[in-house]
Amino acid sequence: MAKSKTAFVCTECGSEYARWLGQCNDCKAWNTISEFRQAKSPSRGGNFSGFAGITEAKVQTLDSIDLGELPRFSSGYQEFDRVLGGGIVPGSAILIGGEPGAGKSTLLLQTMCSLAASMPALYITGEESLQQVAMRAKRLGLATDKLKMLSETSVENICNIAEKEQPKIIVIDSIQVMHMADVQSAPGSVSQVRESAAYLTRFAKQHHVAMLIVGHVTKDGSLAGPKVLEHCIDCSIMLEGSTDSRYRTLRGHKNRFGAVNELGVFAMTGGGLKEVKNPSAIFLTRSEEQTPGSVVMVLWEGTRPLLVEIQALVDHSALGNPRRVAVGADQNRLSMLLAILNRHGGLQLNDQDVFVNVVGGVKVSETSIDLALILALVSSFKDNALPQDLVIFGEVGLSGEIRPVPSGQERIYEAAKHGFKRAIVPYNNKPKQAIDGMEVIAVKKLSDALEVI
Ligand code: TYD
Ligand code: MG
Repeated sequence: MAKSKTAFVCTECGSEYARWLGQCNDCKAWNTISEFRQAKSPSRGGNFSGFAGITEAKVQTLDSIDLGELPRFSSGYQEFDRVLGGGIVPGSAILIGGEPGAGKSTLLLQTMCSLAASMPALYITGEESLQQVAMRAKRLGLATDKLKMLSETSVENICNIAEKEQPKIIVIDSIQVMHMADVQSAPGSVSQVRESAAYLTRFAKQHHVAMLIVGHVTKDGSLAGPKVLEHCIDCSIMLEGSTDSRYRTLRGHKNRFGAVNELGVFAMTGGGLKEVKNPSAIFLTRSEEQTPGSVVMVLWEGTRPLLVEIQALVDHSALGNPRRVAVGADQNRLSMLLAILNRHGGLQLNDQDVFVNVVGGVKVSETSIDLALILALVSSFKDNALPQDLVIFGEVGLSGEIRPVPSGQERIYEAAKHGFKRAIVPYNNKPKQAIDGMEVIAVKKLSDALEVI
């Protein structure tokens, strides 16, 4: 018997080590490294035909490679396609990650039922019984006559059956319950997850099948999170959103066929997941009344703008060390902006508690939030509401200068589309032509912006 190879892998970040360590050198997580036994000769570990040696390797020039007739097909959901970079690529392995209950199974069942009308599709459920899936499909009113279902957890059996059925798209729900006979450890362990995913990915490539693999994100060290298999799949997308909120966002984390910073928005309703094609409208349901500390800004998510509301509350602190709390924004950035406001805006908030919240559970990592955040703080501190029809964006530098942000024009257009009448923007983002019904106030320095409001 061939000696099996052993490696040690961090379940948080997927880094590999030759020996066990208490702390991962890369992601600095403790107790996440577990032993990983590779299957015997994994490179030839397939018993489906068309695998060992049938496709002979040969050297080609880039332009002589056959791209196939159909580079991509649509999943039927614009929001899903957007995150995938324009649709599903045949022969690709796509990982859909998310916490249990995020709606991964629901999203994929809806997608597969509609895709099955135009192509052979196979849904493999290892977690739920066939009855459970059928009941859900019936309740959601999906077309159930074409989609082929299989309840199976053995990866070898799945590939053998898929070879006979010849589907164009396969869903594996989920990778944590899949197992291979060659690998000794329990399903869900690092070895099983990695080997199963690698085997399925090879099958997808060889047979030109799009493979959608569900993976649960979990902090528990005994279960391998999707991180450990990110390197072997083509796209990794996450379905995020807390279970107490209606909205779910799909976000690309890795994509070999498109940009990764795209965002897709869905709403979980009684009738399943529904696309939200105009997300700005949902994050902007504001009360009619003007309130101090509330500002609307325009974010840029991938290829489209998104209007979000930023709220700030500045209140006298009873503590010696006042609190600085940021929800949805970066805490360090908030501290930096407070220092800039002090130095270049002449506003001391040292004895004040500062709370900042991005409404709707949106997480902002863009620097264009700076100006909006500062003006929200000032508005709350002075108890002076800003006009409802004002939108603000821009990066603020350490010397109090307002720096331009990418896609400034498009952001202003989006705000105009939603009925905003005034915009405070960086000077270099000022549009060359006037925009109908929009008064653009271009500012160069923080002091200019403070003067305007
Ligand atoms: P599910 O797709 O099973 O999650 P995952 O596969 O990611 O674990 O979704 C489960 C959650 O979605 C569950 O908490 C209930 C909710 N849900 C609805 O609100 N409406 C629906 O129509 C469906 C099918 C699910
Ligand atoms: Mg599920």
